[in-house]
Amino acid sequence: MSDSTRSASSTIKNLFAFDSPEYVNRARQVSGDGPKSTSTPGTATTVTSLMRTRHSVRSFWPTPVPRDLLRQVLALAQQTASNSNCQPWRLKILTGDALQRLSSALLEAVKAGVEPTTAPIPEHFKHYRSEFGHLLYGSEGYDIPREDREAAETARRRNYKFFDAPVGMIIYIDKSLADVDVMCVGMYLQSLSLLLAERGIACCWQVSVAGYPDVVRKELRIGDEMLVLSGGAVGYEDVNARPNGIRSARDVWQDHAEFVE
Ligand SMILES: Cc1cc2nc3c(=O)[nH]c(=O)nc-3n(C[C@H](O)[C@H](O)[C@H](O)COP(=O)(O)O)c2cc1C
Repeated sequence: MSDSTRSASSTIKNLFAFDSPEYVNRARQVSGDGPKSTSTPGTATTVTSLMRTRHSVRSFWPTPVPRDLLRQVLALAQQTASNSNCQPWRLKILTGDALQRLSSALLEAVKAGVEPTTAPIPEHFKHYRSEFGHLLYGSEGYDIPREDREAAETARRRNYKFFDAPVGMIIYIDKSLADVDVMCVGMYLQSLSLLLAERGIACCWQVSVAGYPDVVRKELRIGDEMLVLSGGAVGYEDVNARPNGIRSARDVWQDHAEFVE
């Protein structure tokens, strides 16, 4: 066997070793019994069941996510399809002090009144945001009275603390790539979310964090040639925490897709 064949076959072997029941069980043991997620491994392990149970999570247990488990899902998510196999996704995965430093820098910018660069939502899509806002801040979510602007702002700012998740992510892409490549990063994030959910780990992607690209770039030494696409909060869901109870509704698929014959 040539060196290159040997190394390719060992990569494939390593990939599937990650998937063995022994590996997943070991990762579960490391993660401990404490936090329980609605997507606990074993209860939702098909793509269909994961699609039914997945949801964004905005409150986490402080329990660390085992580094090996993260390596496992990152190795598997690398299998995502991409245009010309460019694999355009780039990630910084932050824990501990690095995560605290980025959170502090982001909050500082927010408090200083720096305007986020987030693109505005077009008028004809605004009703989605408004419905979602009612759900998140209303009685099923944070339960903040309409007039209590300060409480709503405090809740909103939790974004910049990555909702106190033990793991924060920054997702970025080379600016010289095209829309189709950004689409591939989206596909990658969906792979990552489902692989995490399969292992009982929840997440929330965060465009809010990407609204401060200069802060993120400076703190993480990401070059100007890169576009910051999203943040991400990753960890074990605190199922008892208020905002995690919400489940946002969906349009029927017929509003979004049609057969053409
Ligand atoms: C790219 C992306 C960015 C998002 N940014 C935020 C964010 O900044 N803050 C937040 O609370 N939720 C954010 N979300 C979560 C969405 O609000 C959520 O996916 C949507 O309301 C549907 O709810 P569900 O994920 O629970 O099904 C984001 C989701 C995606 C995919």
